[in-house]
Amino acid sequence: MRTPIIAGNWKMHTTVEEAMELVRAMLDGLQAVPQVERVLCPPFVSLYPVAGLLKGTDIGLGAQNMHWEEKGAFTGEISPLMLKGLCQYVIIGHSERRTYFGETDEGVNRKVKAALAHGLTPIVCVGENLAQNEAGETDAVVSGQVRAAFAGIDAASARRIVIAYEPVWAIGTGRAATGEQASRVIGGVIRGTLAELYDAGTAQAIRVQYGGSTNAKNIREFMAYPDIDGALVGGASLKADEFVEMVRLAAKVKFGA
Ligand code: PGA
Repeated sequence: MRTPIIAGNWKMHTTVEEAMELVRAMLDGLQAVPQVERVLCPPFVSLYPVAGLLKGTDIGLGAQNMHWEEKGAFTGEISPLMLKGLCQYVIIGHSERRTYFGETDEGVNRKVKAALAHGLTPIVCVGENLAQNEAGETDAVVSGQVRAAFAGIDAASARRIVIAYEPVWAIGTGRAATGEQASRVIGGVIRGTLAELYDAGTAQAIRVQYGGSTNAKNIREFMAYPDIDGALVGGASLKADEFVEMVRLAAKVKFGA
């Protein structure tokens, strides 16, 4: 069985002090739910202090982006060498990076390979925007993004990747997809594409989250679908009580605990 994984993407929120405050507020609650893999993705500048707070716990830490090169003249960028040892995960190809910062499928693929090469677990984001959704292009867009992200990656490495299906129209809008919609894309399109790229076993082994306006009210609906392994949570991950509650509910739905 795939281990459920809930990750909080804090985006460009929290100063270092606020980040530490937030971690302190959720730490006990998160530690009480070891059945779910729990990951916090604060801004870069908070990674080091938050790593200190998480030391000795089983809560994972992730970055929200990184460059694929190990070092060099890339002003403002953060490399895998800087992240490894500090955190264990890295979000790659979030739709905000694709939309506002010009990230391409090719760049996403390079970053995924770099993350794997350095022992970081990539959380790769895919998802169609509203126009593509309305034009009936969802399946082609999502499948294409998965193919591009996994290009040149062997099956054993592919199994270490986490995918987040995040329809762009659902992110930060309060308009989440339905569990049925998310499950159709994750179980049908994403696992179908992975089965074509690799094999049925690999397609079943890779974890796929849903993301987009998830909260404590709707998380149960998503987790009830066997193909959905967790959530990449934005806004609700900035509220300690709500995020802990989401992790608790996820465990409850998946394990009946
Ligand atoms: P949201 O963001 O939960 O605020 O919609 C999700 C994400 O962008 O990862």
